[in-house]
Amino acid sequence: MAQDDNSGAELAAVDPSHAANELVPSGTAVIDPDAFENPGFPPHRPRVTDENPKREKRAQRTVYTLFYLSILGSVWAIAAYMLFPIESNDVGAVRLNNLFIGIGSALALLALGFGIVHWGKAVMKDVEVVDERHPVGGNVDNREAAIKVFKDADEESGFTRRSVIRNSLIGALVVFPLPALVLFRGFAPQDQLPAELLSHTMWKKGSRLALDPSGVPIKASDVTIGSAFHVIPEELKDVSHSHGYLEEKAKAAVLLMRLNPEDLTEQADRKDWSYNGIVAYSKICTHVGCPVALYEQHTHHLLCPCHQSQFDVTNHCEVIFGPAKRPLPQLPITVDDEGYLVAQSDFTEPVGPSFWERH
Ligand code: FES
Repeated sequence: MAQDDNSGAELAAVDPSHAANELVPSGTAVIDPDAFENPGFPPHRPRVTDENPKREKRAQRTVYTLFYLSILGSVWAIAAYMLFPIESNDVGAVRLNNLFIGIGSALALLALGFGIVHWGKAVMKDVEVVDERHPVGGNVDNREAAIKVFKDADEESGFTRRSVIRNSLIGALVVFPLPALVLFRGFAPQDQLPAELLSHTMWKKGSRLALDPSGVPIKASDVTIGSAFHVIPEELKDVSHSHGYLEEKAKAAVLLMRLNPEDLTEQADRKDWSYNGIVAYSKICTHVGCPVALYEQHTHHLLCPCHQSQFDVTNHCEVIFGPAKRPLPQLPITVDDEGYLVAQSDFTEPVGPSFWERH
C-alpha cells in the first residue's frame, strides 16, 4: 500500500493486468478492463471569425453595438421613470410608467445578454482545454490545520468553557430578529387591531349578493341549478380604491352555486344557511389565500388552482384533497322581499388562511 500525496488516502493496485498497473485511491477504483477507449475530442473546426478578419471585425462591431444599446435601454428606463410619473388613482399613468420602464429594462437586459453571448461565441479565443479532475477533499494537512483553527478559536474564546457567556449569546441571537417581527405591525392600520380587521368582512345582515365586478344584485330566480357566480357585497361599489376597495373585496369575495337540494348534506345548525339549494362560500382559499376559482359542476367540487386543494360543496366545502386544512367558510344567505339574495350576517369565522388569532 502507498499513500496518495494529495489526499493521504491509501492507494491500491486494482487490476494487475491493467497496462499501467496504476495506483488509485482505494475505494474509488472502478476500472473496467473492457471499458471503451476514450474517443477524444472531435477535430477542431475553426469559426468563420477565426479565418476571416473582416467577419471578426464585424462581430466585434455587433458586440459593442449591443452593449451601447443596453446602455441606451438603461438610460431610457431612468428617463421613463421621470417622464411618466405614477399619479395616484390614475391607472393610465401607471400603465404608461410600467410600459416604458419595462421597454427600457428589457432592451438593456436583452442587448447585454446577446452581446455577452455573441462576444463569447464569435470573438473570444476558440481553444479547447482539458481540465483534469482532482480529488475534491482537502489533503490531510489542510484538514488537520482547519480542525486546529477551530480548536484554537474555541480554546481562546472559551466558547465551550464559558457556558453562561455562550448561552447568553445564543439567547441574544435568537431574540435579535424579534423587533423586525414586531415592526410588521406597522403594515396594518394603526387605529384598528389587525386580528379584528382580518376577522370581519363587509358582509352584514341584509347585504345583497351582487355580481363581481358589475355590482348588479342577483335574484334567487337568476341562479339556475348547476350555475356558479363570483359574488361581492352590493355596498362594495360605493367603496373607492383609495378607501380600501381591494382590501375589502379580497376578504368578502364569495362563490355562489346552486345544486339540487337533495345533493346537499347540511348540518342541522346550518340547514337555513342555504336557499333552495343555493349556497355561498368564501372564495379565499384556507391554505394561503388564493382565489378558489374553479367549480366542477359534475362533481360539485371547488378547486384552488394554486396548490390543488379541493373542497366538496355538497358537504360544507370540506377539504377532500390538497394542503388546505379547513373548509371554506360558508356565508349564510336568504332572500329579501323582492327576491334578491341577501346575507343573513357576516361570515361566522375568519376567511382565508390561518393567522395567529384565527379561531
Ligand atoms: S392557496 Fe389554495 S391550495 Fe394553496
